[in-house]
Amino acid sequence: MTTSAKLSPDTICADATATRAHAARHLPLLPAGTILRLHGPLGAGKSEWVRGLAHALGVLGEIPSPTFTLCQPIHGGRLLLEHWDLYRLENARDWISLGWPDCLYTVGLVAVEWPERYPGPWPAQTLDLTLTPQSDGSRLLSWT
Ligand SMILES: Nc1ncnc2c1ncn2[C@@H]1O[C@H](COP(=O)(O)OP(=O)(O)O)[C@@H](O)[C@H]1O
Ligand SMILES: [Mg+2]
Repeated sequence: MTTSAKLSPDTICADATATRAHAARHLPLLPAGTILRLHGPLGAGKSEWVRGLAHALGVLGEIPSPTFTLCQPIHGGRLLLEHWDLYRLENARDWISLGWPDCLYTVGLVAVEWPERYPGPWPAQTLDLTLTPQSDGSRLLSWT
């Protein structure tokens, strides 16, 4: 069975804890070198999901997030996790000077918020997760 065949079907996550747990459940299905493209509006829970992944990798304590930097490397887990947030890059064109796309080929895991900002190409080992806020405050998480 391929990895994508084992990913959960659409899942409702009632709160941030459930969203982090969803990430933790999926970690065993994410081989080193996987790129995770995280889709969804501001506040959908993309960073919460990455936090859950970091905790599941064994990172202890506060997980830094790429609020003022484009990329936040998260050390201290079984694999290096690189967390990109491309939100502020709407007009960026100089991907080469940012280190793209080479930085996508790592020995760890890479999570990218607002991946739509990057025109590609993406490595083959890329998965897409969409987080959609629901009217009751929960989030619908779907692998697409
Ligand atoms: N079901 C849920 N899943 C994830 N976050 C939730 C959920 N319900 C409420 N939240 C809250 O929504 C916010 C999501 O923020 P964040 O993860 O930074 O979003 P994003 O990175 O998508 O912009 C957090 O304050 C979190 O506590
Ligand atoms: Mg975020």
